[in-house]
Amino acid sequence: MKKMLIIFSLMAILPCQATELAGLNAAEQQALESQVVAHYRHMTKQLGGTLLKTLQTTMQTEGAVNAIAVCREQAPVIAKGIAEENHLSIKRVSLKNRNPHNGLSADTQEASVLQNFAERQAKGEDLTQVDKLTVIDVNGQPYYQFMKAIPTGTVCLTCHGANVDAALYSKIKEYYPDDKAIGFKEGELRGAFVITQAVSEAAALYKAGKLQPVTPTETQK
Ligand code: HEC
Repeated sequence: MKKMLIIFSLMAILPCQATELAGLNAAEQQALESQVVAHYRHMTKQLGGTLLKTLQTTMQTEGAVNAIAVCREQAPVIAKGIAEENHLSIKRVSLKNRNPHNGLSADTQEASVLQNFAERQAKGEDLTQVDKLTVIDVNGQPYYQFMKAIPTGTVCLTCHGANVDAALYSKIKEYYPDDKAIGFKEGELRGAFVITQAVSEAAALYKAGKLQPVTPTETQK
């Protein structure tokens, strides 16, 4: 941390380098990138862990039909809480989606990252560790886009596997008539979390020493 501060102080008095992003030179960008990756990884781990725990508990105590609400209502609320606290946005995407809002057309940049994740898994990478940071353009502004692979776990098969219970599935179909999110195998890529944050926002938080993994208290239950 001390070293980072020294680097920042030095950079402030040096002339600007050729590659600039949100007022940062190459060395600052590199330092910031490794910090945001750690930060985003921590966040998606918290989010994935909280969702899994909530899902498991609800399925055990109230059954799978009632657990639909966890994925449907609680997942976005938990994600929103973490996002607001950290000045960024978080969403879930999939190439085989249940909620139409989470779907991706094959020709989009997010879809190509998901395809890249599947290829990395096919080449032997552990899907639980697969993620990617990209700098994207949003209305002319540079944004960090961090995508983290979501693997299909055993518990997920109840609602996303090949043999979803008929009564449960008819309930799912009531909400999602165009559901494409079934037939997954354990370990298969289910989708990804996508975090986006303006580079300028991340840089400001970093310089203020506020780019720490923070989660709202309600998600720590
Ligand atoms: C009780 C049923 C149920 C279980 C179990 C379940 N899901 Fe879901 N899943 C849903 C529903 C319902 C949605 C749609 C949520 C929405 O409207 O945003 C969904 C949506 C998703 C999405 C967002 C993309 C899309 O298809 O809309 C992902 C990713 C996802 N689930 C992953 C998982 C993973 C990973 C697990 C296991 C840890 C899991 N789900 C377990 C019911 C379930």
